[in-house]
Amino acid sequence: MRKKIVAGNWKMNTTVTEGVALARAIVSKKNEVPEGVSLVVAPPFTHLTFVAAALKGTDIALSAQNCAYEPKGAFTGEVSAAMLKDAGCAYTILGHSERREYYGENSAKLVKKINLALDNGLKVIFCVGEKLAERKMGNHFEVVGAQISEVLFTLTPEQMKQIVIAYEPVWAIGTGVTATAEEAQEIHAFIRKTIAARFGEAIAEETTILYGGSCKPSNAKELFACPDIDGGLIGGASLNADDFLAIAKSY
Ligand code: PGA
Repeated sequence: MRKKIVAGNWKMNTTVTEGVALARAIVSKKNEVPEGVSLVVAPPFTHLTFVAAALKGTDIALSAQNCAYEPKGAFTGEVSAAMLKDAGCAYTILGHSERREYYGENSAKLVKKINLALDNGLKVIFCVGEKLAERKMGNHFEVVGAQISEVLFTLTPEQMKQIVIAYEPVWAIGTGVTATAEEAQEIHAFIRKTIAARFGEAIAEETTILYGGSCKPSNAKELFACPDIDGGLIGGASLNADDFLAIAKSY
């Protein structure tokens, strides 16, 4: 059985104080989450060591939202994969559409980042997803297929086992518009088939594929009921402990 994950992407929200309070609130009600559902939280860089302390002794995993594409040195403003591991991260998100859109993140950079993350013992939540115009033109399979092949197909099978994929249609992120369960399932199944074609059925069956984009307590149940949806990457709704936990309890 592949792992079910509900991950909170806090983006550029909360102060350290607020973030620690949010982490503590999640920890205090973690016992309500069904067994077999793993929680991950991804606060901003400045919060990581503090949130790591708040999560200590729990099985809630810490994630970063990004990492540098060079290992160390004169790269002002960047944070390396080694630093994230040292700060207590088990995961980093890579390739989020906001990084692709606003910070020029492309597949070449993502290949470098993903290798550094894996070399430093981090698992990766690798995000893919099409824009509205691409969906309207019916190009979403092609776009998502290319995002996967350009980066994930460069990995070894052993590396691929450390990857969680998050399908996040850009038109659904922060918009309140969610993909229907049917639309999401269709592309999740396509993603699994794409992974199977390169890495084989066994690895594809074990790969956790999350849905992201306006996932909330009211729609999580229907999405998570789909056979190829293994959880969610939650933005807005992860900033409220009760909403985040309600999503996790949708299983
Ligand atoms: P959202 O963000 O839940 O606020 O739409 C999801 C994401 O970007 O990871």
